[in-house]
Amino acid sequence: MIAAAAAAPVTRAQFTASPSLMQVRDLIYKTAGIFQSNNRLRFLDEQCHKRMQALGLRTMRDYFDCLTNKPMARGELSSLLNEITIGETFFFRNQPQLEGIRNVVLPRVMEAKSRMHMRHLRIWSAGCSTGEETYTLAIILLEESKSRLKGWTFEVLATDLNQRSLAAAEVGGYGEYSVRNIEPPLPERYFRFEGNQLQVTPEVKAKVRFTRLSLSDDAA
Ligand SMILES: C[S@@+](CC[C@H](N)C(=O)[O-])C[C@H]1O[C@@H](n2cnc3c(N)ncnc32)[C@H](O)[C@@H]1O
Repeated sequence: MIAAAAAAPVTRAQFTASPSLMQVRDLIYKTAGIFQSNNRLRFLDEQCHKRMQALGLRTMRDYFDCLTNKPMARGELSSLLNEITIGETFFFRNQPQLEGIRNVVLPRVMEAKSRMHMRHLRIWSAGCSTGEETYTLAIILLEESKSRLKGWTFEVLATDLNQRSLAAAEVGGYGEYSVRNIEPPLPERYFRFEGNQLQVTPEVKAKVRFTRLSLSDDAA
């Protein structure tokens, strides 16, 4: 005989996504390449509800329609993506990767460019979030400009699909969390202290350009 199982208490982990929410998930994956795994569905639902409240919509079905029907679709998808992207970043975040750029990528690219009599480097920071990675790259190359990059010019293009992150990146002011990995003398060289923030100097800013781009766009 099979004993009846005691009714399990409803916990936060038990979240049942509506069919319309699953359609929103698929749409985000199709258009931006960002997959919301099952354990992120509750978060996605909360963010959609935030947007629904802002738009005065009552059901997820209505919200999905709004995300798919012109003329609102594109703008609203951007607004939702602003809420759900993960923007974790800080200066000099990935040391092995940066060493690889310094010691492997840079020499090889310089050699290839030199063979073509070119002395200009173009670097792309794709998925730049609030700009810490982008400015890190600019600072590294400004440092290199004193030695092996003497006589070279460079620019860093930085793209992201999150407009809020890009706006923060343009400002270039950073708190303790972001700057904790920057070693002396770089803070004094490339930042100004403004209140409890470090502000990137105009010399660094002049080397970078931020623009919105989804890596899933056909044009990318
Ligand atoms: C975790 S952050 C990493 C930031 C930085 N690259 C770093 O490593 O410090 C990932 C960034 O990629 C962006 N992103 C995710 N999917 C994207 C896509 N399809 N197109 C453009 N940006 C995307 C997010 O908005 C977010 O700002």
